[in-house]
Amino acid sequence: MTGAAAPASGRDAVVASDGPPALRFPYDASALTDAPLRTERLVLRPLEASDAPDVFEYQRLAEGIRYLPWPERDRVEAYEHTAKRAAGRLLAGDGDFVVFAAILLGEPSIDDAARDRVIGDFMVRVSSVQHAQLELGWVLHPDFQGRGPAREAAGAVMDFAFETLRPPRLQAFLDARNAASAALCERLGMRREATILEEEYHDGEWTDTAVYGVLRREWAAARC
Ligand SMILES: CC(C)(COP(=O)(O)OP(=O)(O)OC[C@H]1O[C@@H](n2cnc3c(N)ncnc32)[C@H](O)[C@@H]1OP(=O)(O)O)[C@@H](O)C(=O)NCCC(=O)NCCS
Repeated sequence: MTGAAAPASGRDAVVASDGPPALRFPYDASALTDAPLRTERLVLRPLEASDAPDVFEYQRLAEGIRYLPWPERDRVEAYEHTAKRAAGRLLAGDGDFVVFAAILLGEPSIDDAARDRVIGDFMVRVSSVQHAQLELGWVLHPDFQGRGPAREAAGAVMDFAFETLRPPRLQAFLDARNAASAALCERLGMRREATILEEEYHDGEWTDTAVYGVLRREWAAARC
């Protein structure tokens, strides 16, 4: 057979595209406000300052923030915190982030029944532009846990990140005691890659960090 090789397609194309770090940056997530991610039950669009009443409903609960690096905040502090997180739009440098509000269709918002409710949020943060490393993070209101929306939302954000931003892998860093979050990582196809002993000091004790990750080619293979 002669002539040029046919272009790679499907999974082959994804594997062939592995190479030097090449994030599709800068990326402005503002466009996702009008063209949000959608799943069976949820809409995911960038967090807005006006989501603060719904976010406060899970941010104010000790069980919701136990394994998050968030101090207890009163309403005013929490609303300011949500406004800061809602400002994340442009992904261009280390530490940049966008937070997706997970909106449950048909569930009325806490302060405005005309809007659907934000029941959790899902973050993509840039760990390293040089090495094209992105990190995922999440929180879901306890009233909606145990029903699958975290898997649904995190899966959609993972698909968005791999397809649009093109990292070679996605990773998550958890308090190693956080069994619910570890189980979510595993449902998403992530593997436990490391346990870093006594990496952080919280509330009078040293805590271990679990590192989870999935490679782009593993994610692509799981979708075939
Ligand atoms: C981590 C966290 C988001 C996981 O939430 P979760 O509710 O366990 O995850 P899901 O929404 O995917 O729900 C999965 C559960 O729903 C069950 N489920 C019920 N109906 C389901 C459905 N239709 N589809 C999928 N799963 C369903 C699953 O079996 C699973 O239950 P199991 O764990 O008993 O097997 C949540 O525990 C949380 O917000 N924790 C606090 C914040 C936090 O610690 N964040 C992480 C910091 S690193």
